Amino acid sequence: MDKFNLSTLITEKQIQEKILEIGKKITQQYQGKEDVVAICVLKGSFMFYSDLIRAIDCDLACEFFGVASYHGEIKSSGEVKITLDLNHPVEGKHVILIEDIVDTGLTMSYLIKNIKARHPKSLTTATLLLKPGALKTKVDLDHVGFEIGNEFVVGYGLDYQGLYRNLPFIAQVQNMN
Ligand code: IMP
Repeated sequence: MDKFNLSTLITEKQIQEKILEIGKKITQQYQGKEDVVAICVLKGSFMFYSDLIRAIDCDLACEFFGVASYHGEIKSSGEVKITLDLNHPVEGKHVILIEDIVDTGLTMSYLIKNIKARHPKSLTTATLLLKPGALKTKVDLDHVGFEIGNEFVVGYGLDYQGLYRNLPFIAQVQNMN
């Protein structure tokens, strides 16, 4: 854990408190609704997803959506590569889309467009982190955990060079190259 210098930005306690708060709101929103599907956007949101769905007190099905953002020129178009598609159709279902971080917003915009094209009954979006200063497009976000600056962060599912996903808190990398 000492390859790069990390400084804690959001503690484990702050994350867990925020998740209980969002979980309560989503529970109220979905009270009495049937056919609820929570989608985990892999890889980054696996930790936020698994904590958040446990804070949602209603019957829901779990789906996993693997995406990888293209880099360079293509990234600016917001195109993402689907590495693992949903296992079941979400047509007619109440979908909760759960992301780790919204940076330029291009990935989330793509995901929203992709899910809407599958005709869900409703769509709610949640992200743990949002970088408002980095947004390149308007994104409809229903639940945002924390707004942060444009710094690159790791931990709690987020990686840098494949590392740090297992940290229970969010940190900033000090000595990135
Ligand atoms: P977008 O720029 O909003 O399309 O974000 C694309 C993806 O880049 C996110 O889903 C993350 O996987 C990754 N990403 C953006 N900012 C960070 C960061 O600060 N740390 C780790 N990954 C990030």
